[in-house]
Amino acid sequence: MKGIVIYKSKYGSTKKYAEWIRESTGFDMAEADKFRPDELGKYDTVIFGGGIYAGGIAGIAFLKKNIARLHGKNLAVFCCGASPYDADFMKALKERNMPGEMSDIPLFYCRGGCDIANLHFADKTLCKMLVKAVAKKDPAQREVWETALVEASETACDWTDKAYITPILETCGIA
Ligand SMILES: Cc1cc2nc3c(=O)[nH]c(=O)nc-3n(C[C@H](O)[C@H](O)[C@H](O)COP(=O)(O)O)c2cc1C
Repeated sequence: MKGIVIYKSKYGSTKKYAEWIRESTGFDMAEADKFRPDELGKYDTVIFGGGIYAGGIAGIAFLKKNIARLHGKNLAVFCCGASPYDADFMKALKERNMPGEMSDIPLFYCRGGCDIANLHFADKTLCKMLVKAVAKKDPAQREVWETALVEASETACDWTDKAYITPILETCGIA
């Protein structure tokens, strides 16, 4: 079986998971922005991963654009966010990012990391504004990702864990 993991990562967490998958499977690995879709024909298994930004999965347009080329392949998507795993969050994320034909593709969660102090300027400004707004909320009313954001504003957070890739590999018939 020939496979590839294609990813879009801004700060490296999704890339780290893609590397773990590559190491565990021997699959090829490529950045979504540099990958030529006509190469998809070579692969039986395609795993796509993207970081979560404001409720969107980075690079998911790649799958949407190439859905016709992906028919009949073994497919999985993983997304990487600051939030701890939350079933409701995942359900909403899937409905928003993978509607229609993409809804049949399994979506997995791999927790990433966040270090607000080291974000690019625009992201840092946005996150600081969000943290201020979240701080005014009753902690019980905060969304899971908002709580994680507050934590990342106080200290650099890395929640990555190789164990998250096990269900992805199982779905692809590898583990
Ligand atoms: C501007 C911004 C928006 C974000 N939005 C979300 C979000 O909606 N949900 C979430 O769980 N994490 C969110 N995060 C956290 C990222 O998903 C997390 O840092 C992830 O590890 C990024 O993956 P990457 O390093 O592969 O890009 C956000 C981070 C930034 C900087």
